[in-house]
Amino acid sequence: MTNQFQQDNLIGQSNALLEVLEHISQVAPLSKPVLIIGERGTGKELIAERLHYLSKRWDQSFIKLNCSSLSENLLESELFGHDAGAFTGANKKHEGRFERADGGTLFLDELANTSGLIQEKLLRVIEYGEFERVGGSKTVQTDVRLICAANEDLPTLAEAGEFRADLLDRLAFDVITLPPLRHRSEDIMPLAEYFAVGMARQLKLELFEGFSSSAINQLMEYHWPGNIRELKNVVERSVYRNADTHAAIEQIIIDPFASPYRPTKRVKTKERQQTPSNDAKPTVADCSTEVSANNGPQTEASLSFPIDFKTHCEQGEVRILKQALEAGQFNQKKTAELLGLSYHQLRGILKKYNLLDK
Ligand SMILES: Nc1ncnc2c1ncn2[C@@H]1O[C@H](COP(=O)(O)OP(=O)(O)O)[C@@H](O)[C@H]1O
Ligand SMILES: [Mg+2]
Repeated sequence: MTNQFQQDNLIGQSNALLEVLEHISQVAPLSKPVLIIGERGTGKELIAERLHYLSKRWDQSFIKLNCSSLSENLLESELFGHDAGAFTGANKKHEGRFERADGGTLFLDELANTSGLIQEKLLRVIEYGEFERVGGSKTVQTDVRLICAANEDLPTLAEAGEFRADLLDRLAFDVITLPPLRHRSEDIMPLAEYFAVGMARQLKLELFEGFSSSAINQLMEYHWPGNIRELKNVVERSVYRNADTHAAIEQIIIDPFASPYRPTKRVKTKERQQTPSNDAKPTVADCSTEVSANNGPQTEASLSFPIDFKTHCEQGEVRILKQALEAGQFNQKKTAELLGLSYHQLRGILKKYNLLDK
């Protein structure tokens, strides 16, 4: 894999991103730890890869591990390995990520909530380049460049005593903070085009027909809480749903759950667990919004056909609009955001249902 290949994969021209890229080029050649901070989906893993491929270790291993998905014991043995017989089921010696990454880079994702024990062992590897396998007495030497990522503010966690301050000092030789997508809106369309072309290729479409101006508006005005990962999903979904039309994409489906029939009443799992008599599986009626019997849409379970499909859907839309307006304190900009619509789209729909200025 060449550096150029990596570069081609990282899309974006915003100043915010260019500054990050410059920062990366600067810190990449050093073998010091780097901390990458950013909201989910901002590209922390891609940035970590880039740091590796721009470093002197580029032709050595790049090993990753997501720390949040494992229990303390498993994480310890994944990181540091274990000797045969270390615990029940440990039949063979197991090489940990630190050993496998020797000479290269180890990327530890979602580090914020690791336990005190793990943090202590990490501190020792960083300080002395050595550790022991679980259940082993031999000290293993390792030469690993550590890159860690978190989507939480680690100094705050350290102040609260939930993260070792001495480890944080070591990890944070340099910190790269990734800007959320909503703060680099110039990158939205280049990224969207890139993901759309990729999806069109995957679907074996002859060409990608582009986005209509209303689709572009939708993409530009949404606030992207899930950042680039969310944008990728949304664009890929829109391309695939539009595949038969042979026309530019008109509609961006931001929320695949959106439906007039979407259940809105939350089932309180805890309450259910506390009342043994109530442990039957939730029925559709349980989870659905309560609606008045004669004029609201019925739940799927209680539909008695024939129905007037159009009226039924419209009633659902009105119900959603009213709820969203209330949730957005009747601020239309906020309500539009809650619905993944642009301000003008929301105004249009409110007008259609005569709900403006109420
Ligand atoms: N600048 C970028 N150009 C192209 N794709 C990107 C970019 N940044 C992130 N992505 C893509 O977005 C998704 C999420 O990125 P990832 O690095 O896993 O985010 P994080 O680790 O911050 O949650 C991945 O599919 C990644 O390839
Ligand atoms: Mg990640």
